[in-house]
Amino acid sequence: MDIRRAQNILGYTFMSVFAVFIGLYPLRFIGLSYSDGLLGSKPDALLNSTLYLTGFYMHIFLGGLALLTGFTQFFPKLRRKRLNLHRTLGKIYLIAVFLSGTAGLFIAYYATGGWITAIGFAALAVLWLYTTANAYATIRNGLIDAHQKWMIRSYALCFAAVSLRIYLPLFIAGFGMEFIDAYKIIAWLCWVPNILIAEFLIVRKLPKIA
Ligand code: HEM
Repeated sequence: MDIRRAQNILGYTFMSVFAVFIGLYPLRFIGLSYSDGLLGSKPDALLNSTLYLTGFYMHIFLGGLALLTGFTQFFPKLRRKRLNLHRTLGKIYLIAVFLSGTAGLFIAYYATGGWITAIGFAALAVLWLYTTANAYATIRNGLIDAHQKWMIRSYALCFAAVSLRIYLPLFIAGFGMEFIDAYKIIAWLCWVPNILIAEFLIVRKLPKIA
């Protein structure tokens, strides 16, 4: 087996395992009291706001759905042999991103940690919506290559949900940082390297000139 193929198998396995694991993670919020988890750190005024709670739950459950549907779109066999399934899952991903991303932008304003985390998450939300809208626009115009590139960018940003949940315990338990200090860094670190890796993967796949 050549190195490129081994790298691809490793990459797909890593992506699929984490996508399923973190994609199902929002289910833990079902029946969880407001005093537990992230909501426990929010002021009462926010926890009494139907608008905020609707945005929060819409964001986490549809974000999970985006993670769960998105990774399947990269399997070449699924695209070749089950094009209709690829299209259906693609539409579900698109709607999930649109709703979860819009809600994510809204709840970013109230993020724990103040303006540094708020701007980090808001920038992520805007870029997630932008790259996904481009993925949709390009496929509607039959531009398959461009569509693949925008989907790589969109899903790399979606994967911020995975990165965040890997870095957070690492920074707190591993490096002994306070939650709030780690959170401010990770609101940015969870997505900036991801989009750079996406650009690297896109460039690596481009045909070489001469
Ligand atoms: C990629 C764009 C995303 C943005 C901009 C975003 C933004 C946010 C924001 C602002 C919060 C609230 C943070 C706070 O109040 O301190 C949050 C929490 C949360 N998000 Fe996202 N998120 C994104 C993707 C996802 C995805 C794909 C999932 C799917 C698992 C997800 C699941 C969650 C969960 C479960 C929480 C609750 C916090 C926790 O207990 O970990 N997010 N997100």
